[in-house]
Amino acid sequence: MKIAIASDHGGYELKEELKKHLEERKLAYRDYGTDSTASVDYPDYAEKAAEGVLSGECTFGIVICGTGIGISIAANKIPGIRCAHCHDGYSAKMARAHNDANMLAFGARVIGAGLMCEIVDAFLGGAFEGGRHSRRVEKIKEIERKYAK
Ligand code: RB5
Repeated sequence: MKIAIASDHGGYELKEELKKHLEERKLAYRDYGTDSTASVDYPDYAEKAAEGVLSGECTFGIVICGTGIGISIAANKIPGIRCAHCHDGYSAKMARAHNDANMLAFGARVIGAGLMCEIVDAFLGGAFEGGRHSRRVEKIKEIERKYAK
């Protein structure tokens, strides 16, 4: 399993904490930036991490901005991405179990590193349940196709 990680400037420091956690867990990752607290635009980094997932290089993506809102909205505009903006472990686990989410988003101005690590573990430890949830995820994909230009 390899994780695509990316952030804007607001999420840069929390992304560094995320890297430490992934290293402690011996999980491979690719860091798509940003590389400092200099101001950048979160959609660019949502797209980079999403491409890492859609290309198949990475199994999941984790993206961070100030609130987690902008970067998750941007990621969810990309067909095939289901990015869960979660600030609690239950939601993260259910995002895998029910929504087959392939990305997770955090707000670095909302949560700290300890909680983020718990949420990452809940997300990565979850598994898609399929069944009735497959039908619903298929409907999300139908919506993507319907509104594609
Ligand atoms: C950047 O200041 C901030 O707007 C961004 O990190 C994020 O919170 C947007 O949703």
